[in-house]
Amino acid sequence: MCGIVGYIGNKPVYDILITGLKKLEYRGYDSAGVMIYDKSLLIKKSKGKVADLESLFVNDQDKKGSIGMGHTRWATHGAPNQINSHPHVSNSGEISLVHNGIIENYHSLKSVLLKKGYVFKSDTDSEVLVNLIEDIKKTKKIKLGKATYFALKQVVGAYAIAVFDSTNPTEIITAKLGSPLAIGVGESEYYIGSDPSPFLEFTKRCIYLNDNEMAIINLKKGLTLRDIKKDSIIDPFIEELKHDIEEVEKGGYDHFMLKEIFEQPKSIKDTFRGRLLSPSLPIKISSIEMHFDKFRSANRIIFISCGTSWHASLLAEYYFEELIRIPVKVEYASEFRYRNPVINKGDIVIPVSQSGETADTLAAIKMAKEKGAFLYGICNVVGSTIARETDTGVYTHAGSEIGVASTKAFSCQISLLLLMALDIGKRLGRIEEIRYQKIIKELAAIPKTIESVLSKSKHIEDISENFLEASNFIYLGRGYHFPIALEGALKLKEISYIHAEGYPAAEMKHGPIALIDKYMPVVIIATNKSNYHKVVSNIMEIKARGGRIIAIVSSGDTEVKKLAEYTIEIPNCDELIAPILANIPLQLLSYYIANKKGCNIDQPRNLAKSVTVE
Ligand code: G6P
Repeated sequence: MCGIVGYIGNKPVYDILITGLKKLEYRGYDSAGVMIYDKSLLIKKSKGKVADLESLFVNDQDKKGSIGMGHTRWATHGAPNQINSHPHVSNSGEISLVHNGIIENYHSLKSVLLKKGYVFKSDTDSEVLVNLIEDIKKTKKIKLGKATYFALKQVVGAYAIAVFDSTNPTEIITAKLGSPLAIGVGESEYYIGSDPSPFLEFTKRCIYLNDNEMAIINLKKGLTLRDIKKDSIIDPFIEELKHDIEEVEKGGYDHFMLKEIFEQPKSIKDTFRGRLLSPSLPIKISSIEMHFDKFRSANRIIFISCGTSWHASLLAEYYFEELIRIPVKVEYASEFRYRNPVINKGDIVIPVSQSGETADTLAAIKMAKEKGAFLYGICNVVGSTIARETDTGVYTHAGSEIGVASTKAFSCQISLLLLMALDIGKRLGRIEEIRYQKIIKELAAIPKTIESVLSKSKHIEDISENFLEASNFIYLGRGYHFPIALEGALKLKEISYIHAEGYPAAEMKHGPIALIDKYMPVVIIATNKSNYHKVVSNIMEIKARGGRIIAIVSSGDTEVKKLAEYTIEIPNCDELIAPILANIPLQLLSYYIANKKGCNIDQPRNLAKSVTVE
């Protein structure tokens, strides 16, 4: 994780770095720091947020300078304190570095440097790298670019770095392996960011570094891109970004999370744009069209993902097996990559990821590729590493998601996965036409239906008032609602720090029922389709033991209403559509509970949006 920013040009750098870092705080907020060069090197760093760092700049003199770098940290090596904050400076005080990633062999590199007399102030792997660069530069008597190149050749791990040498203050060196790095190209100026958000307001021209690439950005000579493995110069590809700056602002909402929850109708419309033109027309997902032979002959589909994206994958298993009739397996990317899974030619591996940068998912992709699988990626962030590392795929187009707890990205993932299942199932002739028509019509209408669920937000807010003292929650759902129960529980624990567990409703009797008493709130999804009466029995079992029930029901329900303490209605719909709707009240419930408890909704403690470390 961690976010890095940088600027080299003619503008005052301070504001560019600070506003840029604030946009990257979703990547970590344990500490923040900047380096600004104006005739001499100024480094300031602070534990905590970028706002804490800002308060250190009491003197306007310190804000001068038009070259600098900044860092917002999600701690890996070493406690989240001021000393371990970036930028790290070499022993001579000349070279400074910001780093996102992990140098896995830092121990052995450090012991060599210690023998040479280097002294380390921090516990970080990054401080080892900056001193390694310095050591190589001084012993080989070479420039910073070459020294960085030789140092990176020795490094095992992942990095996105920016390096500055105050003895040659017209240059910043950047390089990438595993962690993301984007360079904004302006008029005689360059911006650096872990993603383009820090420089979107200044330029939309962007170079995404690929793994093993290094950019030497020189104020006089411009940008030179090098391939670290081949040690050769490459032509940079400048992309014209289409991102909208307003997407990354709160737009009148108290929190990004709330804004993103209410954006879901629009986001899903964007997911469907050009793909679901009308229920009467065939679905058009070009990557499926182009690679349909792979789906036709697939023996198995394996989903790999983490966190909320893993819950979306779990729901996809239900959708795909139901509508396509091809066996599906869902794996945590972190488990998959470290076991020895059987993958055969003819298997399709589908990584699902909001950020497209999750380290475990990326590593799992590499492994599946080596074993000959066809990789079909589902990502939200356009141009992300996962999008580039897969054979083909589809974007969710949910728009920028800033709140660390994923909401709209998840809704877009599951809507898209259902659309894909309908498309493939129909092409394979595995869905009855009447069924297909019914589901596709309801799916096309889902942005509107979600609006009607969102209009109940006040009712959900009122319910939330009654659970601020709870220290545990259980979430239950059967069938299509089981992954939603898991996601509901995850949302609550992520932002309110209340312990919550999701379970298949029928599993309750195998353990969790022991926890039920009058202090235990149970959120149960009890919409009116196939397993309804079985879920009603589960509700009775909870009630008999004094549990407090909040039930998500279909509109017009009377049976559950008699049993539950609180009910939240969602519109009547097909059972494949219901999980997409049932998830919305659970997002709102978590939001209101966390907000009333005074939690930091958009930046929950210890979490980060994009997990680019193992
Ligand atoms: C982090 C985020 C989660 C996300 C997970 C997977 O833990 O906080 O919200 O679901 O990573 O991320 P991805 O970007 O691969 O979907």
